Amino acid sequence: FGEQPLRGRTVVVSAGPTYEDIDPVRFIGNRSSGRMGFAVAAAARDAGAEVTLVAGPVSLPTPHGVRRIDVRSARQMHEAVLAEASAADIYIGAAAVGDYRPLEAAAHKLKKADGAPLRLELTENPDIIAALAARAKRPFLVGFAAETSALAAYAQEKLRRKGIDMIAANEVGGGKGFEVADNALHVYWRDGDDTLPEMPKTELARRLVARIAERFLSGSGT
Ligand code: PMT
Repeated sequence: FGEQPLRGRTVVVSAGPTYEDIDPVRFIGNRSSGRMGFAVAAAARDAGAEVTLVAGPVSLPTPHGVRRIDVRSARQMHEAVLAEASAADIYIGAAAVGDYRPLEAAAHKLKKADGAPLRLELTENPDIIAALAARAKRPFLVGFAAETSALAAYAQEKLRRKGIDMIAANEVGGGKGFEVADNALHVYWRDGDDTLPEMPKTELARRLVARIAERFLSGSGT
């Protein structure tokens, strides 16, 4: 970033999975390692922004110069992101937020029931990025879409339904997207799109942030 396009701007990034507790020893999680979101936070810092990273449970070092807030569940991430991002210029949701949580987390470790099936009742978590989109004053909103099929159609549907400004779609499953060092993205906005081919997440994040800065600045009139 020769000219640091995001100098003086505030950016909030979410990264990693969420853990939804079943009982004191078990949880529902997902395969996100946080690598993509941490790379996006570092790239936004390099673009000159003041960056806050809201991180689910991951084992990654905090990028230098980035403020980090650790959370565990989707509801904690919701609270932290809303508090941090409401006044920010840009929010980038790279976290794999759990869509559901157990209706009640058991206070004691669940016991086996003599071979009978164990039923877990799940309830929906709040949609963090859609909650931001519903606010009158809101940051420029960039979501990710993790899909195992029909990438373009699902991503464009999420862009519209969530009412956000851009979406970065990636294929996941079969060794793609989650956990690994490389990734590829297809980025969509209302009247355009761009393909970022497979490359290390660190480089991909820089290309994505450059694209976000361009769209953000063209809309903010600065
Ligand atoms: O962490 P890595 O191992 O590096 O893997 C990277 C990644 C695959 C996790 C990342 O690139 C990615 O795709 N992140 C988004 C994963 C996801 O949950 O996508 P989704 O299609 O379920 O959600 C769409 C968007 O809505 C995302 O921006 C998500 O943060 C947001 N969302 C979803 C649910 C919810 N309750 N609140 C949200 O804000």
